[in-house]
Amino acid sequence: MAGDTTADLGRTAPTTAGVRDASSGPSAASLAFLQALIARRASIEIGSDRRTLWISRLNPVAKSRGLASIDELVAALQAGNRDLESNVVDAMTTNETMFFRDGPVFRSIVSEILPAMIERVGGEGRVTIWSGASSSGQEVYSLAMLIDRFHPELVRSGRVRILASDLSTTMVERTRAGRYSTLETRRGLTDAELGTYFERDGDHWVVGPRLKRMVLCRQLNLMDSLDPIPRCEIVLLRNVLIYFSDHDRLDILRRVKERVLRPDGALVLGSSELIGTGERYYTAERLTNGFSFRPRR
Ligand SMILES: C[S@@+](CC[C@H](N)C(=O)[O-])C[C@H]1O[C@@H](n2cnc3c(N)ncnc32)[C@H](O)[C@@H]1O
Repeated sequence: MAGDTTADLGRTAPTTAGVRDASSGPSAASLAFLQALIARRASIEIGSDRRTLWISRLNPVAKSRGLASIDELVAALQAGNRDLESNVVDAMTTNETMFFRDGPVFRSIVSEILPAMIERVGGEGRVTIWSGASSSGQEVYSLAMLIDRFHPELVRSGRVRILASDLSTTMVERTRAGRYSTLETRRGLTDAELGTYFERDGDHWVVGPRLKRMVLCRQLNLMDSLDPIPRCEIVLLRNVLIYFSDHDRLDILRRVKERVLRPDGALVLGSSELIGTGERYYTAERLTNGFSFRPRR
């Protein structure tokens, strides 16, 4: 996974004959088990060379369960602890996000893509937007703030809904709660946005009902069926496709086109992401800030 470029500090060699130091990380067998688990559950390939990443993400999980090492964690997984399995998958998926990440593209979504969609669905119609890797929710609430500001009539009449889904149940719960530390709010929000859309809760801030009403949350693995997702005018798959193999990335792009996106809808990727071989399903359309991808006919 991206997000951890620290040098490999882990060592597999036992510290004293036959005794493994917990800080040295998992055995080769444990690592192979974990790699297979993450590949199966999240379709993400994390190399065995990324020992620092494995150790820094999984030691806290082991510790929180009273287990002395990642090897013990693996033994518990092998005993069939499904709940623990979800914790491990959550810990290994990179959830990095922030409010208005790659800011200007949000403006283009709201001022260039959305008006055409509103016109197309007509006076009574509803616009549906889906974020398929919404992490802890900053992406969907950023969009909700701009929609509220620039299309208040749409919000007042309940004609816009934003679906937020993620592989991680922890992230889905965080989005549903809409509760952020002061540090998290400082990453992207102005004081005016904080004052208008959030309520203070000690040293945290909670998204107010006006935005929350717009946002529906659920857990969904992009590798699974997309049937639970309704037809959408706009789909955001930002900063997630990079984690999949070429084959799986193309498969997701095809299924989003065939199953989710309306024929005249728009797909938005992360600002530094290219559509690659997905070109066979989408054509790029230039926005003032970035690109959207339209399904090919
Ligand atoms: C780097 S974050 C991107 C968040 C947000 N879209 C953004 O651009 O700020 C990637 C998210 O993808 C999610 N993810 C990873 N694999 C996934 C999968 N197979 N299905 C759905 N979400 C997945 C992770 O849990 C994580 O929250």
